[in-house]
This record gives sequence, C-alpha cells and structure tokens, in this order.
Amino acid sequence: MPDELAFRRVEPEILDGLLRDDPRAVASRRDLRRINMLMFQAGIMTRLLHRHVMQPPRRILEIGAGDGAFMLVLARKLARRWPAVELTLLDRANLINGARLAEFTRLGWRTEVATADVFEWIARHGHRQFDLITANLFLHHFDDATLAKLFAGLHVLAPVLVATEPRRCAAALTLSKLLWAVGGNDVTLHDAPASVRAGFAGAELSALWLRERADVVEEYNVGPFTHVFVARGGASG
Ligand SMILES: C[S@@+](CC[C@H](N)C(=O)[O-])C[C@H]1O[C@@H](n2cnc3c(N)ncnc32)[C@H](O)[C@@H]1O
Repeated sequence: MPDELAFRRVEPEILDGLLRDDPRAVASRRDLRRINMLMFQAGIMTRLLHRHVMQPPRRILEIGAGDGAFMLVLARKLARRWPAVELTLLDRANLINGARLAEFTRLGWRTEVATADVFEWIARHGHRQFDLITANLFLHHFDDATLAKLFAGLHVLAPVLVATEPRRCAAALTLSKLLWAVGGNDVTLHDAPASVRAGFAGAELSALWLRERADVVEEYNVGPFTHVFVARGGASG
C-alpha cells in the first residue's frame, strides 16, 4: 500500500458543506449514484444482508441515508422476501423527496425520515429497537475515536450492523481520481479521493468495535473498491 494510504486520513468533504439545492451538490449526488453503481455497492450489500440477516427484519435503520436512492435500490431487490419493513432513513441533510418515499410505499415498506445528526438522534432515540442497521459510504466520515463512540450507540440499537465502505487501496484511489471521465464534477473529484483516504483496510473497524464488546464481526474487501464490515450480537442478539 502506498505510504499516503498507510493510515486513515479523515478530512471534510465539500458536499457536506453545500446547501441541498446548490447545483454543485445536486450534480455531486448524481455522481454518487453512479459511483455506487461502479462499485456494485447495492449488489454487495444485498448479498451481505441475505447472508447475515436470518429472519425478515421488521424494522431497519439506515444511517447516512443521503437522498434514499441507495436504499430504494436495495428495497426493490429485497421487498419480496422482506415485506412490510418499517424503514427509518436517517441523515443530517434533508434530501429525500416525496416521490422517493412513494416508491418505498409502493413496495409495501413504511418509511420514516429522520433529519438529524446521527449522534444527536441516538442520544434521543437510543431506546428504540431495530432488527438491522445499514450504512453505505457513511462510516468513513468519522475519525477512529468518533467511530468508537458511534459503535457504542449502534450496539444497543440492533443485533446486526452491515456496512459497505470505501476500501483504502491504490486501485480505489486511482479510480476516484478518474471520475472526471464519467462526468464527475469538482466536488466529486475532491470528495471521492478524500473518501478513499478516509476509507478502511485490514481489520480496522473490527478493532474499534471489539474494543469494548465481544461480538461476532466480519471484515473484508470485496472487489477492488469496497470494504465490508458486519457486526452481530448487539441489542437483543
Ligand atoms: C457519501 S454520502 C452517502 C449517502 C448514501 N448512503 C448513499 O450511498 O448514497 C454520506 C451521507 O452521510 C451524511 N452524514 C454525514 N455525517 C453525518 C452525521 N454526523 N449524521 C447524519 N448524517 C451524516 C451526509 O449528509 C451524506 O448524506
């Protein structure tokens, strides 16, 4: 691994500082949907959910849900086997429109949108119980100390956490710098490499999760760009 990737480097992402309707933000969220496709994130997450969630879950919490597009792709793949899910989409930005919510309803899933910082929301709702927590391209926003704090909050909310994150490796960094070739804008061309540098390698997330608890964890790379983390044993599990 090149030296610049030996350790995580978490830095602010431009998209997080833009107003919702800023044209640069709108374009960068469109890029994000493309990046999810290029990384096969939805397929990877779906396979993980089938493998790690034994019973159809009744209540799912997605943290850092963004505009809900990623979860809608998952819902379309899962709804037949997982009917009548109660889904909470949590993000500090208010990005989910009525049309997207209607799509979930059409699939038979009930949605609640929580617009809040994840830590403030957990502090207020830590008593609520979910069957599953998912996160896609979210955990890398936080430094290790903050992640340890986040994990403590998530552990009491649900028995399973499944996360698909950027893999911190040379191939992913190279691809992230080439996104101009598929129309990536200036925000994306900053944030994508920043996300890779803040991404994960080895068993970094497991080490943070297991610092305070003895659960079952799995952590590995899938393909050149994705780093997967699964923790089982929180809440009632
Ligand atoms: C890279 S985007 C991923 C969005 C979505 N999961 C997807 O795959 O399209 C990360 C999201 O995390 C949200 N986020 C970052 N920090 C947050 C925090 N402290 N609390 C809640 N949401 C946060 C951002 O607003 C953004 O929508």
